[in-house]
Amino acid sequence: MINKPFLFGTSVDEPHFTDRVTETRRLKLNFEHGVNTIIISPRRMGKTSLVKHVQRQISDPRIIVVFMDMYDCRNETDFYNRFASSVIRSTAGRLDRAMEYVKEFLVRLTPKVSFSPEANSEFSLSLGITPTNVTPEEVLNLPERIALSKDIHVVVCIDEFQQIGAFSDSVTIQKRMRGVWQHQHNVSYCLFGSKRHLMTRLFQSLSMPFYHFGEMMFLQPIPVEDWVDYITTRFQSEGKSISPQLASRICATVGNQSSYVQQLSWNVLVNTESDATEQILEFATDELIIQCSALFAQQIEGLSAYQMNLLRAIRDGHHHSFSSREIMAEYDFGTKSNVNRILNTLIEKEIIDTNDGKTDFSDAVFRLWFRKNISQ
Ligand SMILES: Nc1ncnc2c1ncn2[C@@H]1O[C@H](COP(=O)(O)OP(=O)(O)OP(=O)(O)O)[C@@H](O)[C@H]1O
Ligand SMILES: [Mg+2]
Repeated sequence: MINKPFLFGTSVDEPHFTDRVTETRRLKLNFEHGVNTIIISPRRMGKTSLVKHVQRQISDPRIIVVFMDMYDCRNETDFYNRFASSVIRSTAGRLDRAMEYVKEFLVRLTPKVSFSPEANSEFSLSLGITPTNVTPEEVLNLPERIALSKDIHVVVCIDEFQQIGAFSDSVTIQKRMRGVWQHQHNVSYCLFGSKRHLMTRLFQSLSMPFYHFGEMMFLQPIPVEDWVDYITTRFQSEGKSISPQLASRICATVGNQSSYVQQLSWNVLVNTESDATEQILEFATDELIIQCSALFAQQIEGLSAYQMNLLRAIRDGHHHSFSSREIMAEYDFGTKSNVNRILNTLIEKEIIDTNDGKTDFSDAVFRLWFRKNISQ
C-alpha cells in the first residue's frame, strides 16, 4: 500500500489516527458497561473515526460492536433493513452462521447474499423486510434477542443518525425505537451524526422521544500540541521539516477542524522542497480555499440579500444581538422580526452555528473564502 502522510475525506485509522486518548477511554468504558452515548460535534471533527477506533479496541469477545451508517436510509423500512442486516452480520461474523441467525430470529425471511468485489470474506445481506412481513418491534428487539440467546453484549453504533428526522412521521418512529430500546439490558447504543443542529434537536429537546437517552459527548477539537507532534513527525518521515510554530499555525488557520488540518498539512507538504515557510503556508491556504470554493459557492447560491448581509455582519466580527439598533443601522436585514428567521435558515443550511449565545460561521475555511470573495 502507498504511504499517505496526511489523510482526509474518509474516516481514519492508525497511523493517521492521532490523540483522542480521553475520548477513546471514555467511549470504550461506555461500550464495555452498556452506557448509551450520543456524540455531537461540528462537521469533520472525527466522530466516525473515533467510534471505529474504539470498536477496534474492544478485545472482549463477548462484546460485539455493530457499526451501521444511515446516510442513505430514506424511510422506516430502509432503516429496519439496514439495522437488521448489520446486527446479523456483525453478531454472526460468518456467512453460514448469519444464515442460521436469520432462520432463528427472523423466521419468515429469505435473505439474499452478495459479496464485496474485494474478495475477502465481506458479505452483505439483503433481508427484504417490508411493513408486512416483520413488525418494527421484532426488528428493534433483534439485537436483544441475539444477545440473550448467545450470551453476549451488543453495542449498536449508528452513524448519521440525524437522518431519522427526515423520515415521515419521524417522531412516532422515534417513540417506537426508544420505547423498545430503553427496555433492553444486553444492548447499548452509540448514536452520532454530522448535522449538529439536527442532532441537538433530537437529543436535547425536552419534547423529543430521545431526550436523555444517554450520555452526551461533545467532541472537542484535537489539541494543538498533538497536531504539532503529528504534523512534524509526518514531515520528517518524508525527509522534510516544519517548525512547531508553523505547524500550530496550520491548526489555527483552519480553526483546528481535524479534516482541514490534515488537508492543509498536505498542501504545505507538497509545496515544500525541504523546509516549510510562512510563504508556503500562505500559498497552501489559498490552494485550500480554491479546493473548497465550488462547494462554498453552491452553499450560498440562492441566499437572499438579507441572508448575505447577515453573513457579512458575522464576517465583520458581529456574533450576537443582530437585531440591535447599531447592527441594524449598518446591515439591511429588512425588518427586525426578520432576523431570527434569517438566523434559523442559515443554521438549517449549516452555514452558521450558534454556541453559548455566539453565532459564527460553522466552517473556518468558509470564513476565509467569504472574506476573500464576497465584496462589501
Ligand atoms: N483522531 C484523528 N486523528 C487525525 N485525523 C483525524 C482524526 N479524526 C478525524 N481526523 C481527520 O478528520 C477527517 C474526518 O474524520 P471523520 O470522518 O471521522 O469525521 P466526522 O466527524 O465523522 O465527519 P462528518 O461530520 O463528515 O461525519 C479525517 O479524514 C481526518 O482527516
Ligand atoms: Mg462521520
